[in-house]
Amino acid sequence: MQIEATTQGPAQTGADTIAVGVFDGEDIAHDVEGGLLQKLLDRGEARRAFRRLAVVHHDDRRYVIVGLGDRAGFDTERARVAAATVHGRARELSTSTLCWEVPHHLDDAHVGALVEGTVLAAYRFDRYRNHPDDDGGIERLIVSAHHPVDGPVAWAAALATAQNRARDLQNTPANELTPSDLAHRAHELVAEIGGDHLTLEVRGEEEIAALGMGAFAAVARGSHEEARLIELRYDGPDATGPLLALVGKAVTFDTGGISIKPALRMAEMKFDMSGGAVVLEAIGAIARLRLPVRVLGVIGATENMPSGHATRPGDIVRASNGTTIEINNTDAEGRLVLADCLVHAVNHGAERIVDLATLTGAIVTTFGTSHAGLFSNDDAWAAQVQAAAAASDDLVWRLPLHADYADAIKGRYGDIVNSTENRKAASITAAEFLKRFVSDVPWAHLDIAGTANDTGRPYAPTGGSGYGVRLLVELAKRLAG
Ligand code: BES
Ligand code: MN
Ligand code: ZN
Repeated sequence: MQIEATTQGPAQTGADTIAVGVFDGEDIAHDVEGGLLQKLLDRGEARRAFRRLAVVHHDDRRYVIVGLGDRAGFDTERARVAAATVHGRARELSTSTLCWEVPHHLDDAHVGALVEGTVLAAYRFDRYRNHPDDDGGIERLIVSAHHPVDGPVAWAAALATAQNRARDLQNTPANELTPSDLAHRAHELVAEIGGDHLTLEVRGEEEIAALGMGAFAAVARGSHEEARLIELRYDGPDATGPLLALVGKAVTFDTGGISIKPALRMAEMKFDMSGGAVVLEAIGAIARLRLPVRVLGVIGATENMPSGHATRPGDIVRASNGTTIEINNTDAEGRLVLADCLVHAVNHGAERIVDLATLTGAIVTTFGTSHAGLFSNDDAWAAQVQAAAAASDDLVWRLPLHADYADAIKGRYGDIVNSTENRKAASITAAEFLKRFVSDVPWAHLDIAGTANDTGRPYAPTGGSGYGVRLLVELAKRLAG
């Protein structure tokens, strides 16, 4: 979709469909001849209630009138939902160019959210269908406002495009997105963006073992597909702030290994690489937007498979910081991969860390698909992540770390276990495990097992959600000052 901003009136843009929003207690701001739109409102065919739609034709153009509800309650999430609602109807009507008439007095964040809602709602993953359900799609989106909105429109377009790319990676099945395929995508991204600000280093299984990453290697050994340690480095122009490390779990398929998962819904485990996909595409967006920050991306990509080579329950391995781990459940593999990736980030000078991982089923029980679990060893850093989450509507909720939970992962034969026998506080004990690998660097762990896919949001109902791309870019923007 081509996206642009204009200060021309909607009717002057050549759009075939114009979206007009109306708040409670307000009237049509710019009507067509004869007051057609206002008449629809007055007759009750068009309504001001949130998400109500009406369509009217005038002068060879269509007007989609959408209710925006209470102005005071119209937050950026509602703007995304309103835009997605309009998009759905506009697409049904075979719109090729859609123009959103921005309601008066909306700020930049809301204008951006209208763009995001449209671009995210337009997303389709139909590359494997010979006969897609609906063909075409909207080609152009024009945002018309009285004042120039080029900046927020371009920013939102970059964010939503990156989020959709992450969704592509998430949705691609594991046979077509192996660890080396993901590394290939990282190569493509770096080539596309070009310049010397963004660099990439990819390591294979031999190098992973040679780096002493015994935990990561223990997960990888069961699979015929070679693991990849994907390291991206972005050095923005005139960057001054701390080195931000973004660490992503990219288990391209999680069978559970020898501690194999039940068959029901195992197919969903193609989404177990979501953290890595989001880190990759967020760094792509940060680089495209040329943010003045320094970012280190560390993505641990592997399959978790059962085989004659696979790690057995009870095996003891040594991670790259020397910690020994009793692997008593091979399905608790994400923390093993992340352990070595976190150590790697620390060793490479990370001054702030955020990791994203579809880490525990328990977080889905806790928060459903609405919030990611946030865990941190540093209140100030946690607050910064919470602020970026609130601003981006990639929601988080903080859960505690505590010595009691740290005790629960003490090992019998080694330093720590990767899984507790009782499943008490499983998301928290997983976070306690990760904490052992970040030294004293301010760190935030986001358990995205619930938010990564099938969130039911109107602009991302099924499949990969791209959750976290907007949050990470917002966080980088704030670090840039
Ligand atoms: N990838 C899963 C977590 C997951 C579960 C993500 C459901 C999305 C939906 C992770 O590797 C896993 O298997 N975790 C186990 C840990 C347990 C064995 C301690 C879990 O949560 O059951
Ligand atoms: Mn698992
Ligand atoms: Zn997993």
